[in-house]
Amino acid sequence: MTDTITITDDRTGKTVTVPITGGVFSSAALRELDPSLFMYDPAYLSTASCASSITYLDGDAGILRYRGIPIEQLAENSTFLEVAYLLIKGELPTTQELEKWELDVTHHTMIHENMRKRFVDGFHYDAHPMGMFISAIAALGTFYDDAKDIFDKDSLEKQVVRLVAKVPTIAAMCYRFSQGLPFVSPNNALSYGENFLNMMFKIGDDYKVNPVLAHAMDVLFILHADHEQNCGTTAMRVVSSANSDPYTATAAAAAALYGPLHGGANEAVVRMLTEIGDIKNVPAFVESVKAGEGKLMGFGHRVYKNFDPRATIIKKAAYDVFEVTGKNPLLEIALELEKVALNDEYFIKRKLYPNVDFYSGLIYQALGFPVDMFTVLFAIPRTVGWLTHMQELLNDKEQKISRPRQWYTGHDERPYVPVAKR
Ligand code: CMC
Repeated sequence: MTDTITITDDRTGKTVTVPITGGVFSSAALRELDPSLFMYDPAYLSTASCASSITYLDGDAGILRYRGIPIEQLAENSTFLEVAYLLIKGELPTTQELEKWELDVTHHTMIHENMRKRFVDGFHYDAHPMGMFISAIAALGTFYDDAKDIFDKDSLEKQVVRLVAKVPTIAAMCYRFSQGLPFVSPNNALSYGENFLNMMFKIGDDYKVNPVLAHAMDVLFILHADHEQNCGTTAMRVVSSANSDPYTATAAAAAALYGPLHGGANEAVVRMLTEIGDIKNVPAFVESVKAGEGKLMGFGHRVYKNFDPRATIIKKAAYDVFEVTGKNPLLEIALELEKVALNDEYFIKRKLYPNVDFYSGLIYQALGFPVDMFTVLFAIPRTVGWLTHMQELLNDKEQKISRPRQWYTGHDERPYVPVAKR
């Protein structure tokens, strides 16, 4: 028997019964009752804005799966480019498919010289790399006259490969510019993660990417590749629903990610730990959070109310990295903060647990990334998720241009008053 829900409009006595499928019912039921009736749902707390077959997330059980495969198995056995293929194409690649995909991505890592010499050079010397990254992604689209051919499957696939391949190059370029260092060209002989680290940190001919660190980078990229309908992905879908090109839509998604409540949280975590400064200050800091004087950054999640499976994997990856780089001095403060918060009634009652950003910043710092690069590091792999959602949206016959309704709470009609009479 199908589950159903029956809604009665008490004003008219009219009733409508609709099926519940997978815990969801169509809001079209409301329009059947009264076409001028809308649900008020700020921040989409109870609204599914799309049907999606990309990522499954069960916040209560701490489950995250890409195309059905648990994140733990992917982090353990796969590579970022293989995961990117899985997300974008829907299936794991065969050996030949993987080789071709890796070759395609590797051969699109270069960016036009004008991007570096004229576009990036125009920024102020201390520009935030994420601000540079967002604008560089939007600008990149202007270099391809086929960027707007989003309904041509081959053309869209080409833009996807270009974006996946070029985001690390752009990210590294922004960093090198901010440091006043010469740009390092992509190296086709290196893996995705190795190439990125090489473009970031190579100084002189002797630089060799440490394989443990390259692996950690790859795992971090896998963990951040997609996270269903979060703020950035929603921005990607909303902008894509207007049929904007993938570069513009990716820039919009990256802009959402920049916010401190979203991808900017890892940066905020390190700043918070630095400010706490010593484990003896942890209890006072936790009290100040409970008194409403700020948030415990890296804690809490809209969906995960038990634990964030990414946080568990990242904590382990952090120790692998620290074996090579030595311990991040902020780690002790983080561990103490985690211990105090997890035993405190305030956090227990609100189901606040460490999220992916609580430890990722510490790894990034140990790898040598400056704090203001952290959100850029999140944006590189998430570009894969964003583009996957864009493709899904464009193929979804039920989707139209996004256009939510509002609950108007302003003035009724009133006359204009000339300035002299106000
Ligand atoms: N520190 C202290 N209190 C918190 C925190 C926190 N980090 N997060 C939530 N709360 C409190 C909040 O004040 C509220 O308390 P009350 O019921 O007394 O008003 C209660 O917990 C419920 O919080 P909420 O604001 O309704 O939760 P939300 O689902 O709207 O927000 C969140 C989720 C992630 C924005 C929020 O937990 C937060 O701001 N965390 C810190 C920032 C952070 O770490 N963000 C990274 C998220 S993971 C990366 C990603 O996927 O983007």
